[in-house]
Amino acid sequence: MHSDGKPIAMMTAYDYPTAVACERAGVDMVLVGDSLAMVALGHQDTSQVTMDEMMHHSRAVARGTRSAFLVSDLPFGAYHADIGDSVRNAVRMVKEGRAEAVKLEGGRHFVSRVDAIVNSGIPVVGHIGLTPQTAVSLGGFRVQGKSVAAAQHLVDDALALQTAGCFAMVLEAMPSLVAETITRLVSVPTIGIGAGSRTSGQVLVMSDMMGIFDRFTPKFCRRFAELAPQMDAALVQYKTDVRARQFPEEGLHTYAMPAAAEDRWREHVLSAYGLDLDRVAEPAAQVHQQQHQRSSV
Ligand code: KIV
Repeated sequence: MHSDGKPIAMMTAYDYPTAVACERAGVDMVLVGDSLAMVALGHQDTSQVTMDEMMHHSRAVARGTRSAFLVSDLPFGAYHADIGDSVRNAVRMVKEGRAEAVKLEGGRHFVSRVDAIVNSGIPVVGHIGLTPQTAVSLGGFRVQGKSVAAAQHLVDDALALQTAGCFAMVLEAMPSLVAETITRLVSVPTIGIGAGSRTSGQVLVMSDMMGIFDRFTPKFCRRFAELAPQMDAALVQYKTDVRARQFPEEGLHTYAMPAAAEDRWREHVLSAYGLDLDRVAEPAAQVHQQQHQRSSV
């Protein structure tokens, strides 16, 4: 797709149903992003999610993807201590997490990790610009590369990641012009998020673009759907129907015994328990009260 100049559509997925939805839509690449820490696990940021949690979700997504290429994030701490750790965790993400490639955040300071993982046979996607795992050290969730010096750092990072062997890189939250510069300088695809329209592809966090993440929507995200109000309405309707005994509907959402067995069952229950199923049931509270009165007598 990259060599044909065809934009690549990448989307995050966190479980089997979101993976299947990506597959049905024909999304090209699926990312099990560590954004799952915030949008699926409720953490304040992405730094707390563990390797085991990432692999658990990656496996679920792998069960739902067939033709989409599956990339899973290495979480914060999984590649920071040393090179051996980085390779071991990347191998686990492939063997146990069923990922086809791993993504890690960071530029030129992480080339030794990228190089070692690539040399162990695992494709690596880089991630530069706003790197949420270390957003605190970037001064928060801020656009990167706004000055000439900062933009040059991003270009240096991109070139270093390419030399280290990344087969693609995510460019997050940077001016479009800087992302375009990088895209034209490197020979691997760039996948932008908040990086303008001139990258080789785009990625969004599914919960943001579906309108189901309740805390904030970044400026760069278009909400392609507003699912939260639909989910709320469905849940309120469900609760209302349960309370009004309008769900489940007899015959529609229920199972029946064969007619002959039903008649025998009614007789059996009447003789064994004195319970007449032909009489309308009394509300449970009244039954308990009567039983209590009987037992106190
Ligand atoms: O974790 C994630 O979802 C990501 C995307 C923002 C690219 O890294």
